[in-house]
Amino acid sequence: GQLNSLAKAAGLLYFGTAVDNPSLTNTAYTAVAFNLSEFGQITPANGQKWDSIEPSNGVYSYTQGDAVTSKAQSAGQILRCHNLVWYNQLPSWVSSGSWTTTTLESVLTSHITNEVLHYKGQCYAWDVVNEALSDTGTYRADVFYNILGTGYIPFAFKAAAAADPAAKLYYNDYNIEYAGAKLTAAVSIVKNIQSSGGRIDGVGLQGHFIVGSTPSKASLVAALQTFTALGVEVAYTELDVRHSSVPASAAAQQQQAADYVTVVSACLAVAKCVGVTVWDFDDQYSWVPSTFSGSGEADLWSSNLVKKPAYTSIASFLKSA
Ligand code: G3I
Repeated sequence: GQLNSLAKAAGLLYFGTAVDNPSLTNTAYTAVAFNLSEFGQITPANGQKWDSIEPSNGVYSYTQGDAVTSKAQSAGQILRCHNLVWYNQLPSWVSSGSWTTTTLESVLTSHITNEVLHYKGQCYAWDVVNEALSDTGTYRADVFYNILGTGYIPFAFKAAAAADPAAKLYYNDYNIEYAGAKLTAAVSIVKNIQSSGGRIDGVGLQGHFIVGSTPSKASLVAALQTFTALGVEVAYTELDVRHSSVPASAAAQQQQAADYVTVVSACLAVAKCVGVTVWDFDDQYSWVPSTFSGSGEADLWSSNLVKKPAYTSIASFLKSA
């Protein structure tokens, strides 16, 4: 059995992966990525972000996003769509524009409406707002917060809900997988959306972890339950477990395998945890080495598309679950 088949048999809706545009020319890679028994769900890693979709005001380009989503749909895979509002990969015409409340709300409405309508009926879920919080739990002082205050988040969720009533609407962030100020702040975001009459269906916990420092199953489960108690579903949306130094020893690879299993087992322990998405599956395409110099080998397959112990351990765990 392969990951998605095993995950579904164990009760999850999907086991998925992110896929980025440059990897689409690698046929050995795409044979794995778009294999429904391995991955039941795909997230475009970059192609649906603001700088890709609306590089200039009112100019929309869906080429990059569609290149990934069309392959996923041909394979019968669920789509998580990523993302509508984020401070990063935000074109400078937005981040450096001189906005009033009215003009920035209009830009947000247009962007969200245009993109959500383009993908209407195709997305199981949208990451409506991504990474709004700093690690201390304050709002990031990005253009949206600076001009619109905390209300930009409920505003964005309402615009997305209006454009695709069937897509599940998620808040997505990292370092909210365990107790702390950032988790508390994310809970407030969910409550703010709900109390403003908006609809939020889910919270995405990115799950970018470090080998040997991955939180315990108990703390992961507690965080998931903190969100599900608010009436929303949860998912691990960007899971990877990086080594702090590479190449990893055999022992470090076994620890990585155990850490991956910890996260998957936490999701299985919570009924409203719908799935696990890895943030790409082949070390060759991992975002980690370019961001954390010296770190890497965070994925389930090594760069030459060979399954690592983490793959084997997740598969055996799911088989026995
Ligand atoms: O598009 C430009 C291209 O024009 C240019 O020639 C090239 C030169 O470096 O850069 C290209 O942009 C890169 C972009 O990916 C598209 O490939 C950026 O430099 C690079 O920084 C960017 O990295 C992405 C990163 O988000 C940006 O924050 C990663 O691929 C992507 O995996 C990563 O994904 C994020 C999630 O969206 C949110 N959570 C964290 C996660 C990991 O950072």
